[in-house]
Amino acid sequence: MNYQHIYHAGNFADVAKHLALLQCLDALKRKNKAFFALDTHAGRGLYDLHSSLARKTGEAQNGILRLLERGRDERALAGYFAALGARAGRSIGRYPGSAALIGDALRPIDRAVFVELRPVEARAAMRSIHSAGHIRVEAADGYAALKAHLPPPERRGMVLIDPPYESIDEWKAMLRAFSDAYSRWPSGTFLIWYPILHAAQRRGAHERLESLRIPKMLSADLTIHDDAATAVAGLAGSGLVIVNPPFGIEETLRAAYEAVHRHLSPEGAGYVEIARLTPERVAQ
Ligand SMILES: C[S@@+](CC[C@H](N)C(=O)[O-])C[C@H]1O[C@@H](n2cnc3c(N)ncnc32)[C@H](O)[C@@H]1O
Repeated sequence: MNYQHIYHAGNFADVAKHLALLQCLDALKRKNKAFFALDTHAGRGLYDLHSSLARKTGEAQNGILRLLERGRDERALAGYFAALGARAGRSIGRYPGSAALIGDALRPIDRAVFVELRPVEARAAMRSIHSAGHIRVEAADGYAALKAHLPPPERRGMVLIDPPYESIDEWKAMLRAFSDAYSRWPSGTFLIWYPILHAAQRRGAHERLESLRIPKMLSADLTIHDDAATAVAGLAGSGLVIVNPPFGIEETLRAAYEAVHRHLSPEGAGYVEIARLTPERVAQ
């Protein structure tokens, strides 16, 4: 396993994923009842965007750092910037990944489990995540954790599945694990992130997700490069599917993604598309 998220932390795809994550957490907090959050591929919690590894790719520079320079006044991004600021103060030197964002969002009644396969990343997460809620970091396989932790006793909550997609079998493993997790907990909100490389691959990703015949899937895609060519250097876009999406997220996430697109897409390339992938009910 070679993947290290420090090279990509704070890129436009992280921004897209974290915007959706925060909107789901906000929705869960609208009720006074405890919730559970499971982050199956949690990473290390905090990322030093000024480290030589982060600077090597320049992805954060073209992502969150540019957005902070140009998009500060975007109302649709205010909650996201507040979540980053709460953690980082004035400087965004230490960018909060999904685990830190979830940790910061928990109330004392809530609970989260963060799972990360690389022991060094898991140890860093243990050191950096502080929370009012109850948290646990496990150095383990995220797919096995779905079996171990679902359904949770709280009965409400969310799961983030954010694998590195470095192996060609990742899609297969992810779909199998997600389908089993959904059958254990059909009322949970699931966020599944995947890379968009080009248009045909994106269509294929949607088809694979649709073929699971799971209702209430919302797809939230943000591309910042032209995805018609099959040879875009790096990522063309960020793909996300939200199963059992919170009420109203279609509009709020679209506004946020359009703001990101305005500031991060070179010459307006790419698009925002937020649409129902599967209906309220699916015939089995
Ligand atoms: C895309 S990164 C996660 C980023 C993080 N979710 C965030 O948004 O800040 C994927 C992470 O999964 C870890 N990983 C790879 N295979 C894993 C597995 N089978 N189970 C759990 N974690 C895994 C990698 O070490 C890496 O830290």
